[in-house]
This record gives sequence, C-alpha cells and structure tokens, in this order.
Amino acid sequence: MPEVILKATDLVKHYPIKGGILRRTVGQVKAVDGVSFELYQGETLGVVGESGCGKSTLGRLLMRLEEPTSGSVEFQGVEMQKQSTRDMRKLRRDIQIVFQDPYTSLNPRKTVGDIIAEPFEIHPDVVPKGGHRRAVQELLEKVGLNPEHINRFPHQFSGGQRQRIGIARGIALNPKVLICDEPVSALDVSVQAQVVNLMEKLQTELGLSYVFIAHDLSVVRHISDRVAVMYLGKMAELGDEDQVYERPHHPYTQALLSAVLVPDPTLRHKREQIVLVGDVPSPANPPSGCRFHTRCWKVQEVCKVEEPQLVEHPDGVSQHRSACHFAEVRTIVETTVADNTSLLFDKGVTDHSDVADPAGAPVATLVEAEGSGVPGDSEP
Ligand SMILES: Nc1ncnc2c1ncn2[C@@H]1O[C@H](COP(=O)(O)OP(=O)(O)OP(=O)(O)O)[C@@H](O)[C@H]1O
Ligand code: SF4
Ligand SMILES: [Mg+2]
Repeated sequence: MPEVILKATDLVKHYPIKGGILRRTVGQVKAVDGVSFELYQGETLGVVGESGCGKSTLGRLLMRLEEPTSGSVEFQGVEMQKQSTRDMRKLRRDIQIVFQDPYTSLNPRKTVGDIIAEPFEIHPDVVPKGGHRRAVQELLEKVGLNPEHINRFPHQFSGGQRQRIGIARGIALNPKVLICDEPVSALDVSVQAQVVNLMEKLQTELGLSYVFIAHDLSVVRHISDRVAVMYLGKMAELGDEDQVYERPHHPYTQALLSAVLVPDPTLRHKREQIVLVGDVPSPANPPSGCRFHTRCWKVQEVCKVEEPQLVEHPDGVSQHRSACHFAEVRTIVETTVADNTSLLFDKGVTDHSDVADPAGAPVATLVEAEGSGVPGDSEP
C-alpha cells in the first residue's frame, strides 16, 4: 500500500457574506463543507464537479493558501494548521500549485527566467546547484522549452508554452505534491493532450503526487488513478478511475457521465441520457439532508432530512465510496473515449507542436518526435 502523503479531514471553508450599511455578516457561502480524503504517494487524484462546487477552494486549503473554517490537512503525518509560520514555509516547498490560466498567472513584466526563479526568491534557503540561471534553464528543458528563451517575456509564448512555464515554476523547488487547478482548461484540445502528457512524464520522473482539478471528465479520466466527484462543497463519490467511470453509484456522477459526448455514433443511441432539472443551488443556502435532493430523480423523504455519509458501497466488482442513501450501480454506456481530447490521449500523442518557437527558431528539446500531425498551439 503506498504511503498517504496528504490527508484532509472534515475540511470546511465558509466565506462570510457581508450586508447592510454596517457590513455585518448576514450569511455564509459554504464553499467546502466537510471534505475528507487521502492522497497517496505518486498517484493522481482527479477532482471533478460543476462550476462553483468548491474545487479551487479545496485546492487552496490543501496547500494552506487559506485557513479552513474547521478541519485539518496533514502532509506526511504533520498537521499543517498546527505549524508555525517558519515551519509552514519549509513545508510549503513540498506542496506547489499550477493555476488554470496561463495568461493571467504569469507576470507580463517579468522574463520567463525571473518567473521560474520566483520560488527560489521566496525560499532563499533553497540554493540550486549551479545557481538560479542554470536551474531555470534545466527546468525549461524539463518542460520541453528552449533554455535559450530564458530572457523572453510571457507574451512571446503561446498558451501551451505558458502553461509549461507555470509547470516549470511549480516544480522548481522539487515538490512532492502538485495541486493542479484546471491546468489545461484554458487550452486548445490538441495542446491539452500535450500538456497532460508532459505532466504524466514529469510525475514519473519526479515521483510527484497530483491533485488534478478539472471539469472535463475525459481529461480527468485520462490522467487520474482515483477520482473524487464534488457537489456543492461535498464529496459525492470517490473511487478508482474505473470504479467511478464504469460503475458509478451516485446519481450525480451518473448524470455527469451521461452528459459526456460519445464519439462512436453506433453507441450513442445505447447511452442513457440523464437530464438534471434545475440549477445548482446556492452554496449560501444549500438544501437540507442530501444536497443533491433538489435535482435527484431518485429522491425520497429521507433524503431531505438525513445527510448521507461518504461510505463504501459494493459496485459488483469491488467497492468504493459514495454519499447516497440509495447508492446503486448504473453503468452509463461507453464513456471511455469521450471526445477528441481523449482520442488524442489514447493515440499517445508525443508531438510537442505547442512548443514550436513562434519566431521560427528550433526548439525541440523534449520531442520524442513521432510527428503525429496534431495541429499545434500556434498563436504567438
Ligand atoms: N474568496 C471568496 N470569498 C467569497 N466566496 C468565495 C470565495 N472564493 C470562492 N467563493 C465561493 O465559493 C464557492 C466555491 O468556489 P470555487 O471557486 O471553489 O468553485 P470551483 O468549483 O473551483 O468553480 P469553477 O469550476 O468555476 O472554478 C463559489 O460559490 C464561490 O463564489
Ligand atoms: S441520497 Fe437521495 S437525493 Fe441524494 S443522491 Fe441519493 S437518492 Fe438522490
Ligand atoms: Mg475553480
């Protein structure tokens, strides 16, 4: 059994809602509301769920960018909330984050060299062999960019390249855990595949553990060993990738999967469509009992009053966790290859056309060059 590297216990984050002239607290946004799970050494835990369900908040809590309202996060058995500022600084080196938007997460006035070296400035006790410049060049190489472009600015790179820069910054301090908050959501489909492939390569090389937050179920399925499905600040289902995708037992997971595009037209008519009624309720006023009860087609009286706990349920082959009083396996036909993103992944695209130098200079440092002909991320 691999070691548990990160453990969240009953994590809660409520944001106060201020109102009136006196700006008094008139309510709470329950962004994350009692989430527990563990992340194992070397694994990728995918976190999926609709917009506003608390994925990013959870990501920030995991690396203590924000203090939880209650609950705790342990990194290798050490409870983060109990650490002094000094000890937390040390600990923070081991947990880094990669953000969604490569356009806004990089300072446009800084060179790529300065951006990637930022973690060394924040942690002066980490002195890379050969100095900062050498370390940055090595990092550029590691993420498939040309080390000679160290003095360029973010606008001189394409979206895919910028996300590679963000990843280089994320791994600069040689962390053990990388929280990836929608790292490929802003990228074109073909570029997504290349960046995900890079992340998988780095994971193997560096022994990283990933929390991979995304709303695209196909991307998450491709990269994840286990998957957590979130709904309104809570975890609805948690299991191995094949358990959650092939034998989901929470109605919400089943509905999400039924909305994923089936690429094979001969299978499309076989797939059940589960159409959810209504919008996601406000996290400031979540429904009583099971939070999904206002949209669930299986709802019973008990669901409205009694909150289901995230517990193991048999799935016919094994067992995994879900939070439903009436958990029951319902296979949603053929979701393995869900769209052309997955098709690219499944072909094992190793083409790195997104790293092509917009100025035309040769780049290719990482290329295992099979030249799949996948269109590159060519914007300058
Ligand atoms: N700093 C904050 N102050 C107040 N409310 C916040 C804050 N950060 C997040 N929220 C609220 O908490 C809820 C969860 O937000 P969060 O960003 O974690 O969701 P998400 O799942 O990452 O959504 P998305 O898929 O759109 O990125 C939302 O209702 C959001 O408006
Ligand atoms: S507990 Fe009830 S409302 Fe909630 S998901 Fe299960 S069946 Fe639906
Ligand atoms: Mg988010």
